[in-house]
Amino acid sequence: MKNLAVIVMAAGQGTRMKSNMAKVLHSICGWPLICHVVARTTPLKPEKLVMVVGRQASEVKNTVYSCMGKENVTFAEQKEQLGTGHAVMSARKNLSGFNGDVLILSGDVPLLSTRTMKDFISAHRRKRHDLTVMTFRADAPAGYGRILQGDKGELLGVVEERDATHEQKLIDEVNAGIYVVKSKLLFKLLAKLGRDNDQGEYYLTDIIAMAAGGDEKCGVFEAMNPAEVMGINTRSDLAQADEILRMSILDVLMDGGVTVMDPRSTYVEIDVSIGRDTVLYPNVAIREGSRIGDECVIKSGSQIARSIIDDKVELKAYSIVEDSRLEAGTIIGPFARLRSRSHIQKDASVETFVELYETKVGERSKIRRLCYLGDADIGAETIVGAGVITCNFDGSQINRSKVGRRVYVGSDSQLIAPLDIGDRAHVASGSTVTRDIPDDSLYVTRGDTTLREGWMKTRRSEIMSTKDRGKPAPAHKKRVSKSGKRPGRR
Ligand code: UD1
Ligand code: MG
Repeated sequence: MKNLAVIVMAAGQGTRMKSNMAKVLHSICGWPLICHVVARTTPLKPEKLVMVVGRQASEVKNTVYSCMGKENVTFAEQKEQLGTGHAVMSARKNLSGFNGDVLILSGDVPLLSTRTMKDFISAHRRKRHDLTVMTFRADAPAGYGRILQGDKGELLGVVEERDATHEQKLIDEVNAGIYVVKSKLLFKLLAKLGRDNDQGEYYLTDIIAMAAGGDEKCGVFEAMNPAEVMGINTRSDLAQADEILRMSILDVLMDGGVTVMDPRSTYVEIDVSIGRDTVLYPNVAIREGSRIGDECVIKSGSQIARSIIDDKVELKAYSIVEDSRLEAGTIIGPFARLRSRSHIQKDASVETFVELYETKVGERSKIRRLCYLGDADIGAETIVGAGVITCNFDGSQINRSKVGRRVYVGSDSQLIAPLDIGDRAHVASGSTVTRDIPDDSLYVTRGDTTLREGWMKTRRSEIMSTKDRGKPAPAHKKRVSKSGKRPGRR
């Protein structure tokens, strides 16, 4: 937009959050508040974008860079946080030479849509206002500045909750903390601000009464959706905003053909994509840029983060997938954990209680129950039996295991890395593999087997004769607790 600059106030202490972290760094649906705000300003293409930073300035700066890059943004440091008026004053230098409308946004109002920002600026320009303040009707106005209007409905100013009289507190039209002001007027009025109020701060809101009291043309723009303009001051506000956004993310997914069985218990973050006809069971969390294809089934308790899942994948209950890739047709879990660049190729399966760490599983291979495979490459059509583990750490370094195609690794075997098992090899159950195995070989490790028939009969009579010699074994008693109940299993 031409002749438009944006200032985002993000320097505040966020005292009411009671946090060691600046308020604007707290997240909803996976993104810090400040990222929601800057992402929504980008389509406006303002001539200048200034972030006012103060508390944890460098962390806030880096967070802004991480979500929008380094171009098109400048920072103004507000060393002491002396109020919202002081915050905007700090941005003065960044706007030197600029003449036009300044859109002032609060870093703690993350849900304001680009559409509403555009409508707001258009209304301000259409009405040829010098200053427009965004308002909304609040069911619970507590905490917001109240809009003061004259008999003819003209804007008189804003009074903060803590400075308001009992009568003023009954006003339900409140200040959303979003303004458009002509740049020259803005800095002229800011220079006149005082701090004669309950908090001893420079209130940005005081410029409204000053402008309204002069010749300036001022007015309000009422936002029709209060959910968009809620400000986040407390943890409870944070949870509320998170829920509003979460529900709208799920609505978009459902509109796109995703079945969400229980939206209330489903947590999908903002930068996640999910294909049509995928079904999300209750209690599922999908986070941090994960991409899920079409026709997948993600069952209850599953958690996916930073992963790519192709079409027709089934994640059975309580499976955890992090930083991994699942190709089409794979079946995982229940109770499986895949992490650190694990990669499951087409139509392979990973069964109950399996953990994979930096492991590739080839097409149509099967990893049976209770395995741990770390730093391994498993070829196609290989079967890894129940309870197999790779011993990938030798006490000082990590080593890789390579298992070829169509290999059978019998249950309860240990693969002591580094090793290379050739194609079509057969590792007998219970083997400890300590060396490479050539293609088409059988590998067995078995200790000598002892079988003594009738041995237990002899042993039992020995025990009985010991008891007869005056050392009676205590009679078998049921364990009874003090309360008289049998103790339960622990
Ligand atoms: C502010 C408004 C209030 C409005 C509400 C809407 C003032 C005086 N009050 O109150 O009328 O209803 O927003 O949400 O403006 N900040 C700075 N530097 C500071 C102080 C604050 O950058 O010195 C930033 C904060 O980081 C935050 C924003 O300004 O992003 C708003 O500050 P906050 O303290 O939350 O103001 P509210 O009390 O919510
Ligand atoms: Mg606030």
